[in-house]
Amino acid sequence: MEKNNPRFSKRSFRASPDVALIKYWGKKDPILRLPENNSISMILKGLDANTTVEFREDLTKDDIAIQGMQSEIEGRRVVEHLDLIRNTTNIFAYAQVKSKNNFPKSTGLSSSGSGFAALTYAAFSSLGLEFSEKELSIIARQASGTACRCVCGGFVEWESGFSSESSYSHSIYPADYWDLRDIVVILSKDSKTVSSTEGHNLAKTSPFFSARQNHIENKLKEIKKTINNRDFTAFGEIVESEALEFHSILFTSHPSIVAWYPGTIQVIHEVFRLRKEGFEAYFTINTGFNVHVLTLPKDANVVRERISALSLVQEVLVASPGEKPNEIYDHLF
Ligand code: PMV
Repeated sequence: MEKNNPRFSKRSFRASPDVALIKYWGKKDPILRLPENNSISMILKGLDANTTVEFREDLTKDDIAIQGMQSEIEGRRVVEHLDLIRNTTNIFAYAQVKSKNNFPKSTGLSSSGSGFAALTYAAFSSLGLEFSEKELSIIARQASGTACRCVCGGFVEWESGFSSESSYSHSIYPADYWDLRDIVVILSKDSKTVSSTEGHNLAKTSPFFSARQNHIENKLKEIKKTINNRDFTAFGEIVESEALEFHSILFTSHPSIVAWYPGTIQVIHEVFRLRKEGFEAYFTINTGFNVHVLTLPKDANVVRERISALSLVQEVLVASPGEKPNEIYDHLF
């Protein structure tokens, strides 16, 4: 252990999760978390993970407090990430870490993405080290795939790469490029039954996985075009069909993953009804049961009210395109 390191300080960061528009599913290297394909997401302003980190000489082990920590595995993943940071920086001190979210964890809302993005920024800052966004993305990727995107802002692409150094994310359009709304629909705060880590390992057991790989490059190209042109109808159609394709792979994996709850279907049908009535809304769903409904600011109030009124909906949150993680000064300890 280094002694009396004057560079150490207590630092806090706020990071937002993202909504995957073209999903990361399956890994070509599970240890390094190199994904099978590039993915594209939008960072969500309005949903936050706040994390405070302090490396200290007097600690004899890491001291981790994650709000609502549902299992020891979560604490272990944080310690493993701190180990990676220690090995990368050659600074071998333990850390105190506390983190708090304003949205439910482990329900398909990318809480590990925002959590590990905030942790990575706060840890490097606590060590007094400057790192580029690309380097932070490479480090964060090794804790959680989505965290690799959540170190960036706006609309983000994760380049799958072919090695650790070439697999990282970058912003393709800034947050203010396109004013969209994501109505985040919470049907339950229960933890999902299959983690995405387990799910990725099953991806190739679906007969549809190879079909996806055959057209994914084209899909990525097409969605970028729709963002560039701010063409919401074309964008929404790609996002929604991507979600259905992704869940078809989950349904047909061995063993199969049926993540949806009855409320998931209720929301999907309400989105179809809203579109029939002329409101622009499209859904997407990650590995959980909770749903993202993407819409335009002009339709957001109606969409929010209609979705909130559904019998199986617990709560809705409204998000818009968000920035990369930022430093905050209200520490959690
Ligand atoms: O980063 P993970 O291991 O939680 O995997 C995320 C998988 C999806 O949310 C389904 C897709 C994505 O790109 O975020």
